[in-house]
Amino acid sequence: MITKPKGTYDILPDTSRNWAKIEEVIRHVCKLANYEEIRTPIFEQAKTFHRDEADSSDMVNKETYDFMDRGGREMTLRPEGTAGVCRAFVENKLYVNNGVTKLYYLGPMFRYERQQKGRYRQFSQFGLEAFGSDSPMLDVDVITTAIHLIEGLGLKDIRVRINTLGDKESRGRYREILVKYFRENLDSLCSDCHERLEKNPLRILDCKVDHDNPVLVNAPKISDYLNEPSKKHFATVLNELDKLNIKYVVDEKLVRGLDYYSNTVFEVEFNASDFGAQNVICAGGRYNDLVSDLGGPETHAVGLAFGIDRLLLALEHEGIEIVKPKSLHAFLITIGDKAFMEGFKIVNSLRKLGLMVDMDFNQRGLKAQFKEADKNNSHFTMILGEDELNNGVININDNVNNTKETVRLEDLGNYLVTSFAKKTCKSCKEGK
Ligand code: HAM
Repeated sequence: MITKPKGTYDILPDTSRNWAKIEEVIRHVCKLANYEEIRTPIFEQAKTFHRDEADSSDMVNKETYDFMDRGGREMTLRPEGTAGVCRAFVENKLYVNNGVTKLYYLGPMFRYERQQKGRYRQFSQFGLEAFGSDSPMLDVDVITTAIHLIEGLGLKDIRVRINTLGDKESRGRYREILVKYFRENLDSLCSDCHERLEKNPLRILDCKVDHDNPVLVNAPKISDYLNEPSKKHFATVLNELDKLNIKYVVDEKLVRGLDYYSNTVFEVEFNASDFGAQNVICAGGRYNDLVSDLGGPETHAVGLAFGIDRLLLALEHEGIEIVKPKSLHAFLITIGDKAFMEGFKIVNSLRKLGLMVDMDFNQRGLKAQFKEADKNNSHFTMILGEDELNNGVININDNVNNTKETVRLEDLGNYLVTSFAKKTCKSCKEGK
């Protein structure tokens, strides 16, 4: 037996219905806030992600799936959506209107990570990217859209953590202070942090190994080194969130795993204590330099991404049922070859009327076919044998109202459509 690759999993019909529902809610929330869908390739030229030597994030350094194509070009399976969307934004000159461009995407990402619950090598993200404004209100727009999605799905036990990394100038100043401080305390840092010291000392602050180390706990704080514009930007974001009654905690240790951020950064955690370590369901922030790093004009931007796999685990954990089990409008049971062959024509004509209809294709015994109708949670079971065919009729069991009727074949479509128009069926009630 060939098995799935490590770190991947199959999404079977029972769960894929939930995926479809989440995607539906995502598209609705995006429509309301004027984000439009973009679909970029699943692989990009490696340099889209491996941009410069200075990038110290584990994700870019150790976790990408890199390969050489048959033409000798270096390619990378996308580990995240932002860089590819920025590449597309530049290449397609989406910046020309000088306004704000709001995009969203859904799809698989790939990272060679250690597998655990909520952390996979292929996972799916829903991301938002808003380009073309440095206004803190755009940060708020992105964060509130995330909250709308969370509320739309009914998830309650969440916590928003937020921080600022300041603009380039503030970060530069803070970086110098931090390097000096950590250099003086080098002996008490882990080996990964030694490496981070040269490349991105801010990342030392969220070191998973050293998080209780007093050297980290007492490290200089970015808030003491922010210039006025950075302070003002962050204060406005927090103030607006307060006005909208969106709860958050400011966490000065939050620096994020990717190196492209500036100013606002945030994460949304699912807070249930027994959920597991991978509880960050959404993360993002401002990245005012990435578009120009990718060869575009200076363009301020802010965005976020949800891990859809984790979102589903969180919904499951809270016992939130987002879709009911499937149900058909009608299921056809046939007796004998003639009814079987004619039966499909009936099924097909009912589908053309917009009804969800299926039949048994194995011509099994009556008991098995009734079971199949039951399994499909069908409102009506239609029974067709040779006698019925010869008389131009069909027997119908209404499984919801527990009634039986014989209907003329030429009236069948009308009969079903009319009964569903009365909205008594399960599917109608569920709005399908
Ligand atoms: P990220 O924090 O690397 O940010 O990923 C965003 C979310 O994707 C995480 O919070 C998590 O829910 C999910 N995720 C990440 N890795 C995995 C994994 N191995 N398995 C399952 N879920 C995972 C970004 O990707 C940025 N591009 C977000 C962003 C958009 N920033 C600005 N715009």
